[in-house]
Amino acid sequence: MPVYIVLLGPPGAGKGTQAKIISETLGLPHVSSGDIFRENLKNQTELGALAKGYMDRGELVPDDVTIAMIHDRLSREDCKKGALLDGFPRTPVQAEALDGMLAQLNGKVVAVPYISVPEEVLVDRLGGRWTCRAEGHVYHETHNPPKVPGVCDIDNSPLYQREDDKTETVKRRIGVYLEQTSPLIDYYRKQGKLIEIDGTQAIDQVTTKLLDALPRIEN
Ligand code: AP5
Repeated sequence: MPVYIVLLGPPGAGKGTQAKIISETLGLPHVSSGDIFRENLKNQTELGALAKGYMDRGELVPDDVTIAMIHDRLSREDCKKGALLDGFPRTPVQAEALDGMLAQLNGKVVAVPYISVPEEVLVDRLGGRWTCRAEGHVYHETHNPPKVPGVCDIDNSPLYQREDDKTETVKRRIGVYLEQTSPLIDYYRKQGKLIEIDGTQAIDQVTTKLLDALPRIEN
């Protein structure tokens, strides 16, 4: 049966950082809704043009568009054993749509690690984040700096700062998270799937906690 893990947490909690580290260990592809939108922006697709305004304002892209995009992604061959979801679902409507999609694929969400980090730490993390142009590898100028400033350690591509990491937009994104996404904490807690992880620890400690807490996955 395909298995799906949903990474939950506010913007800057470290979802993308952890997903990139643990997806290989778990043998599950990393499916990030934010990365797919950014890829579409870069390739100047119709979807990218539609998403841009919402992303620049720090708002969510409408549910119907996002759900269709993730449905398409999860239907691909590399997701036939499941996926590690990062940034989706983000509203109760998306969570219900995901349950429906996974039922069609004979799979289910098996665990929902919720990485919690206080707001003041999030603002610092996003203000200092640098992302690689080619593959989206993530760095922080103080907490996780690249070996050479401005260059990705892994693929040598240039690093850039995201447009939506400006302080005002970050505050808006945190507000949107509290309003629209945080109800999912209870949604998954009631299903007994929520695993709370303290995201204020160092990156490698968070990884260890996550891997220890996740159920064993047979691939
Ligand atoms: P998205 O890209 O998903 O952004 P996000 O959820 O706001 O998450 P981030 O990528 O900002 O943070 P993260 O938790 O991955 O942190 P990271 O690991 O990078 O979404 C962007 C936009 O797309 C949305 O605003 C929306 O418009 C749209 N969108 C996406 N999904 C959608 C959906 N489902 N529905 C509708 N719209 C959607 O880490 C952050 C920084 O901290 C890095 O610098 C990192 O090096 C550092 N760091 C990480 N962990 C630690 C640690 N333990 N200690 C110290 N530093 C750390």
